[in-house]
Amino acid sequence: MKTNQDVYTTVEFDQWAGREELLPEERFLISKYLATGGSTLEAGTGGGRIILACAAMGFQRLSAFDFVPGFVEAARRRDTAKAVDFRVGDARRLEYADGAFDQIIYLQQILSLLESAEDRQQALREAARIVRPGGVALFSFLGYEARLRGRSSAMMLRYLRLLRAISGAKRSPQTLPWLNLGGKWNYGALLDRGPYVYWYRIPEVHEFLSSAGFEITAAGVGHEVARGRIHESCAALAGSGAAGTIYVACRRR
Ligand SMILES: C[S@@+](CC[C@H](N)C(=O)[O-])C[C@H]1O[C@@H](n2cnc3c(N)ncnc32)[C@H](O)[C@@H]1O
Repeated sequence: MKTNQDVYTTVEFDQWAGREELLPEERFLISKYLATGGSTLEAGTGGGRIILACAAMGFQRLSAFDFVPGFVEAARRRDTAKAVDFRVGDARRLEYADGAFDQIIYLQQILSLLESAEDRQQALREAARIVRPGGVALFSFLGYEARLRGRSSAMMLRYLRLLRAISGAKRSPQTLPWLNLGGKWNYGALLDRGPYVYWYRIPEVHEFLSSAGFEITAAGVGHEVARGRIHESCAALAGSGAAGTIYVACRRR
C-alpha cells in the first residue's frame, strides 16, 4: 500500500463503510456548535456515519464527500431517505463553490490523514474557501501529546527516531506510520514503512487553523469533550495538560 487512499480502499474499508452512531464527543460538538437549519458539509464521510446521524438529528441541506468511490456508494445505499448529496471528491481539490456552506465537519482526523504539509495546507485552504465568512467549522486532529504519554507509543516513537537517525530519513517525528491496520498490528511500522499519518501538537493546531482564516472558539480532547468539558482556546487546552484526540470548533473570519 502506497497511500492512505489505498489503506481506506482495502484494509480499513469494511470497518468504516458500515459504522454507525456518533461518538459522545462528536454528538456534543454537533449539538452545541452547529445549527440544524444551516447547509452542512462533511469531509471524508466514509459510509456516511456522521452526516446520516446529522440527518437523524433533524439537520437539513446536507452534503458529504469522500475520495474512495466505494464509500460514497455505500453511503448512498444507506441513505434511504435521500437526505444527503454524497459525492466523490478529494479534500485537496473540491468542486464546491466559494462560501457554499454555512458549516463544515472535518472530524475523524481527516487532515491528519494527508501525508505532506503542502497537502494539509491545501486541504485546509479548500475548507476555508467553501465555508462562508462567519460560518462554523468542526475539526479534529490526532494528538501528538497523547502519543508521547502512552508507554508503548512513546517507546515506538523513540525507536523510530533512532531508526531515522541511522537511515538518514528526513521525516518529522510527528509523521508516523500506521501502527494498526485493519484492526491488526502493522509490522511495516517497524521498518518505518508508509503510508503515514500526521500527529498534531495542540499549539500547532492554533497556528495551522489561524493561518487559513479560522478563529478558534473552543478546543478540547476526546475523553473530556465526551463529558461536555471544553476550553475557550488551544492555549487554555494546552495549559490544562490534557492529551488525546484534539477537537476544535471555529468560526470562519
Ligand atoms: C477515519 S475515516 C472516517 C470516516 C467517517 N467520517 C466516519 O467518521 O465514520 C477517514 C475517512 O476520510 C477519507 N479521506 C481521507 N483523506 C481524504 C481526502 N484527501 N479526501 C477525501 N476523503 C478523504 C477516507 O477515505 C475515510 O473515509
